[in-house]
Amino acid sequence: MMLRMEQNLRTPGPTPIPDAVRDAQAQQMIDHRGTEFAELLRETSAGLAELIGTSGEILLLTGSGSGALEAAVVNTLSPGDRVLAVTIGSFGDRFAEIATAFGAAVERLEVEWGSAADPGALRDHLSSNEPYRAVLVTHNETSTGVANPLREIAAVVRGAPGEPLLLVDGISGLGAMPFEMDAWGVDLAVSASQKAWMASPGIAIAAVGERARAAGEVARMPRYYWDFAEARKWAGKGQTPWTPAIAVLYGLRVGVRRLREEGRERTWGRHARIATSVVAGIRSLGLRPVAPESHRSATVTAAWLPDGLDWVPFNAAMRARGLVIAGGQGKWTGRILRFGHMGDVGIDEMAEALELMGDTLPEYGHRADGAQAAAAARAAHEAMIAGVR
Ligand SMILES: Cc1ncc(COP(=O)(O)O)c(C=O)c1O
Repeated sequence: MMLRMEQNLRTPGPTPIPDAVRDAQAQQMIDHRGTEFAELLRETSAGLAELIGTSGEILLLTGSGSGALEAAVVNTLSPGDRVLAVTIGSFGDRFAEIATAFGAAVERLEVEWGSAADPGALRDHLSSNEPYRAVLVTHNETSTGVANPLREIAAVVRGAPGEPLLLVDGISGLGAMPFEMDAWGVDLAVSASQKAWMASPGIAIAAVGERARAAGEVARMPRYYWDFAEARKWAGKGQTPWTPAIAVLYGLRVGVRRLREEGRERTWGRHARIATSVVAGIRSLGLRPVAPESHRSATVTAAWLPDGLDWVPFNAAMRARGLVIAGGQGKWTGRILRFGHMGDVGIDEMAEALELMGDTLPEYGHRADGAQAAAAARAAHEAMIAGVR
């Protein structure tokens, strides 16, 4: 097998970015207090609002997705507030940890890793406990490749005693998977530029609904850099309070334009088909996907590593061939592999990655055929494309 010079980056973010985004990000700097910047902020925010399905406000923050999770918590809650964190993996745990760090009284509704949250169990929990001020949920759990039934979860939270706020970590799902912020009744959702939006890391996205905005007026958690009131005040002037990641915003604007041109349903369909094709390839390699089919993520596929396969050298061997995927996190370190497919993805890159994986597996004692796996993914994809024609 020849070494490839170009990396096939298949982590669940950052993702390879289109040439048009790279070119945009290489542009000369502008004054972030000038009219050109105001237009950059306006267009990008308006496009994101449309793609996320909200008529509420979009605040663009300079930071990573975790910064936006922190912003979501500190701008809506006060120390001592009762918060229910629904967690199905390591990113759900992170959201809970942030709320705990700022003094919320966090209870966890923990779901076994690899499964999605059950709206019925959530309803029972909410109706048999003292009311909560907020419910924290992950849209798409990147650590396990499981998508939560968010629409149903939102309906349950909307009908719960005390009318808790619904704060959503949509970091790895928004843009690529069905999400209707206003129609579903989500109060606040966050994402980040390096995911389905096809830009470099550096810009965090907060979509803030009316109830979350009102909660901010009484929320007493300490905040300064992430203060939405400050971000809102400056956004009114077409600016951000602090010096923003201008280059990333250049790229994000192009990513958003491309997604608007493609159209939300088509983008969601493309990601769903890619995920199904990747699963067909993974199965052909003799690997077992983690997620049940009913709750499979469209942006990241996780699969169990075969018994006895040592992830560290296997991963190093794939990287030497130019394929960069992710391993397990937390308690699943060394137990699973994770394959990202969000943003600028097509079947060719997926087939190439599956082939490389299949070429490497036999060196680690697992019988697999790379070419066959690539063909299985392509065949699954072709059958679905024929179905939508
Ligand atoms: C669901 C989810 N939440 C939170 C994060 C953290 O985002 P960041 O690494 O940008 O801080 C990620 C990143 O992979 C994610 O996928």
